[in-house]
This record gives sequence, structure tokens and C-alpha cells, in this order.
Amino acid sequence: MCGIVGYIGFRNAYPILIKGLKRLEYRGYDSAGVALISDSGDMNVYKEKGKVVNLERIVESHDCSGCLGIAHTRWATHGEPSAVNAHPHVSQNERLALVHNGIIENYSSLRDLLEKEGYVFKSSTDTEILVQLISFIQDRQKKDLEGAVLEALHRVIGAYAIAVIDKSTPDKIVVARKSSPLVIGIGEDNKEFFLASDALPIIEYTNQMVYLNDNEVALIKVGNNVEIRNFDNCGVKAEITEVDMSLEALEKGGYEHFMLKEIFDQPKCIIDCMRGRLLPDKKKIVLSAINMHRERLLRANRFIIVACGTSWHAGLIGKQMIEQWCKIPVEVEYASEFRYRNPVIQPNDVVIAISQSGETADTMAAFELAKKHGALCFGIVNGVGSSISRESDTGIYIHVGPEIGVASTKAFTGQVTVLTLFSLALGHELGVIGQVEYEQHIDELARIPRKIEEILKKDDCIKKIAHSLKDARNSLYMGRGFNYPVALEGALKLKEISYIHAEGYPAAEMKHGSIALVDEDMPVVFVATHHQLYKKIISNIEEVKSRNGRIIAIVTEGDEEVKKLAESVIEIPPTLPTIVPLLSVIPLQLIAYHVAVDKGLNVDQPRNLAKAVTVE
Ligand code: F6R
Repeated sequence: MCGIVGYIGFRNAYPILIKGLKRLEYRGYDSAGVALISDSGDMNVYKEKGKVVNLERIVESHDCSGCLGIAHTRWATHGEPSAVNAHPHVSQNERLALVHNGIIENYSSLRDLLEKEGYVFKSSTDTEILVQLISFIQDRQKKDLEGAVLEALHRVIGAYAIAVIDKSTPDKIVVARKSSPLVIGIGEDNKEFFLASDALPIIEYTNQMVYLNDNEVALIKVGNNVEIRNFDNCGVKAEITEVDMSLEALEKGGYEHFMLKEIFDQPKCIIDCMRGRLLPDKKKIVLSAINMHRERLLRANRFIIVACGTSWHAGLIGKQMIEQWCKIPVEVEYASEFRYRNPVIQPNDVVIAISQSGETADTMAAFELAKKHGALCFGIVNGVGSSISRESDTGIYIHVGPEIGVASTKAFTGQVTVLTLFSLALGHELGVIGQVEYEQHIDELARIPRKIEEILKKDDCIKKIAHSLKDARNSLYMGRGFNYPVALEGALKLKEISYIHAEGYPAAEMKHGSIALVDEDMPVVFVATHHQLYKKIISNIEEVKSRNGRIIAIVTEGDEEVKKLAESVIEIPPTLPTIVPLLSVIPLQLIAYHVAVDKGLNVDQPRNLAKAVTVE
């Protein structure tokens, strides 16, 4: 959560910072701020509650000159969203300004200590302690900025990516990271540098990036190479990565919202995800991650999937596929629980972390734990160069491009696609899945993008159905087998952007409690496509019908039985039961989208949420 941007060079920093903040707004949007060292050497700090546009409005009439600046968009952890709690925070002597993404756990004891030294704090954030502490060390120990930052970080417990500027040395920015992401963009001949929480705000200026590792501090100075030191004060070589990302992916491309664009992008995203991996002509799946770690994967005793939210739902689908095609047991764990419950992890286990951002703090911590126990760490990640991707021993990028809408859509189908390819390929290597079934799935995967396009053509009809849900206060989502995680995902999509309470269940579980909620006001969305449990789910639908529940169903084209029972149905093309989530989730994404739009809500930036959850 929270997004950081910074610039130092020869251009006016302000427009770069504001544009960068807008690109990072998906990481948090309850307040924003900017600190600039002006052409006349003053430190100008502007902060405002709410979105970046609010900040822009107040800065318009002020001095925004200067070629050095840092900026921040916030997702509040400590201290309510307000201008005073917004970053940058400024030291008492008004020399330093600092932005921070993360949490300082021992801020309260450090604050007591500094208050005894006469420091007065303006905000109720954990971050302000950092800037005051650095300033205190500068004063007491006469250290330069980078030395003071290093010293301060030794006294701090927590997670952070920070950027600090000092108006008395306007030729440098000092940055540091521990458990929160930070990337430095390098301009031509080191004449300018950019920094940000991820590559999105930087890519339009340079594709040469240095991803800072944990426990590193970097000095960024115009004309010099980036100088990195670890927390033991030893020099570290700055590794430059060439990042391949298109600017187009960062724009809405004519759609009203990023979420809608990302839903409609899914056919193309799945093609990108399968490119070079699914070879239908050769009836083959090629995954370098399997080739590189073949022996360990083939000998795996068990897979443990760790993830959060939507990525966890993708993991539940992965479990069913791996168990079906590889006959290896799989556990799917909430990363936040797994990391703290002292789990049994053995060297023959393979731990798969699934994460869109690649920065989720709990997933990262679960992965680190797995590594400590000697398991093979396998990442299924979208964020290229992200922390989880770098922590992986091996893995597969989903390659669906940046996902900006806070509600995850194309990342989910990308994750499920990768899990399908992985389980099929491994099952084939193991000789568990038969050749006919293997080839049948390869052929069907190749047809999936076209089938998604067919569903997307029904958007107008889905919109009408969504309209009928607009005034609901509660809803239930039911599915069985491979459609059970889809029901969970549909419910999560609806609640997170439309604020309608929604619960997903395996349909047969309904009788064990939730059926008590069913009455004429309760919409129940059934994912009832053709598979071996089809007849069973029809009985579940009958049970809801007989209690006057409102039934909306996702069915396979040509279905007649459910049509007789449901208030409305959305047909999807027939496919193999194992692959059906790639199709059945699409109408649920569109339903959630249209309900939220109908209610006039902010679809791309729902309240209280942020895209990359870099705090636990
Ligand atoms: C829901 C959503 C979240 C994320 C979760 C994990 O639409 O986006 O539930 O799936 O925060 O994030 P990643 O996948 O980045 O680890």
C-alpha cells in the first residue's frame, strides 16, 4: 500500500511526480503529498486529503519549481486520512522531507525517546518518527544524509521503502528498503533518476531500472552511478534490469474504467500468457520452470499454495488440477495464517506463491518461511521484477500486463491459465495424465480466448441482469467442483466494488446453514455449467427456488433445465469441466462491474482497498 515517486535531474520534477502519483494511485488513495526543493532552494511541501487531483488543485497556485522532489499517495495504517497525516513528513528543523511505504512497529517507543529530546510531532503516523530520527542523528552525530539514514534504520523495526531529501544537499536523494518495494529508473548518462514503488510511473522515461533489495540503502546523485550499500555498510553492485512494459497498458484505451478494460483484455492476456508455452501444433506444453527444476518437481511430496484474496481462489482451482493430473497432494493456505502457525514444511515440498503484484507482504513472508525450511519456492506472479518473483527459486510469470483496477480480473484468469499449463505439463511428465486427455486440454486451451470473446459479446444482457441486483443488500454465490472457487471469486468481486454483502459457498454446503438466509429478497447466483455434478447442483437450485429465492445462473449454452428455474441465465460456451473457471468467471466479473457502475461507485478505486497490500 502507499505509492512513492521521486525525481532528480534537469527537468521540472513536479509534473513527473504528479503523473507518477496518478499511476500509483491504485496502491492507496486517501491522501497525497509532494515535497520539492525549489529553484531558490526552499523546501515546498504540499499535502491534501483524498485523491491526487485534490493535491493538484491546491498546488496550482503555489511555487512548484525545482528539479528535485519526492511524492506519496497514501493508504492509511496509523493515523486517519488527513492532510497532516499525509506524506511527505518534514523534520522539525524543516531541512528533511521523507516519504514511506510500510509500517514502523516500534514507532511509539522511538517517539517517546525523541519527545524527551524536545521533538514535537505534528501527525499521528508511524512515519514521522523516521524523519525526526534521521534529523536527530544528523544533528547529534554530524553525519551526512546517507549515513544518518543508515544509522536510523538500525534503530527501527518494521517494513519500509523510504525516500529522503535534504534541502541543504539538493543534489541527492537517499532511498532504502526492507520488505516494501522500491525501484530506481536510470536516465541517459546518469543525468536524471526516477524512483517509485513500481515501474509504472517510470517506464515512460526509461526502461533501465535497478530494483533495490531488502536491507539496502542507495544514494542517488546526478552524474554518478547509483551507489548501494547494505545495512552492514558494505558496497553492493547495482544490477540494472531492462524492463519490458508498454505504455498502452497503463491507459484506459477508450474504456470508462480500467476494470472494464482489463475484463475485455482477457482474451489477449490469455494468448500472451500461453505464448511460447502452449504449442497446439506440436501437442505440447513447454515450461522452462519445469525443465530447470524437473527432478525436484517430479519428486515433490506435496505442493503448498500460499496466496491471498483472488490469488487464493486461483490456488483452489490449481489444487484440483494438480491433484487430478499429477496425483500429488496440495494444500492451499491463506498466506497470512500459514506464516504464523508454525506449519510443517519439508525439503521435498514445493511451495507455490501466487500473487498478482508480487509484493503482498503476507505471501512474501510465507514464501520466506518456506525457503528457510528448504522447500522449492515457485512463484506464479504478474509483477515483473517484484519481490516475490525475485525470492522465487523458479516460477512462471503470468504476463497479463499491469493490472490497475483494484479488483483483480485478468490476473485471476492469467493465474488459472498458468496453473492449468503447469499441472498438465507436470502430470504429463509424471505419466499420470493420459495422452488423449492431455491433448484434449491443449486443444481446448487454444480455443479459450475465442470463447471468452463470445461471452464478452453478451455484455449488454449481463448489464441488464446486473441492474436487477443493484438494490440487493445481500447475495449468495454457489458453485461445485471447479466452479466452487469461481463462486468465491464472484462473491469477492461483488462485495469489494459494489459494497453488497456476498458470500460464496460450495452449493451443497448451503443446507448446513446459509439456506436459512434465503427468502424472496436474496439473490442467489449459481454457477451451474455442465459437469459431473450438474444434476446435484440442479437439486440445490430447486432448494432455493422452493424457498422463493431469486436465482441467477451461469449455464452452458443450450441448457434447458436451469432456465426453467432461474429468474435469469447467462449462457457460456461449452468447454472441459476442468477449464470452465476461465469462462464461468467472466460473467461474474461483469455483473460486479455493472452493479458498481449502476450504484455510481468508484469501480477502479473502491473504498478502503489498495492494490498491493505491502503491509500485513
Ligand atoms: C481482489 C484482489 C485481492 C488480491 C489480494 C492478493 O480483487 O485483488 O484480493 O487478490 O490482495 O494480491 P496479490 O495477488 O497481488 O498478492
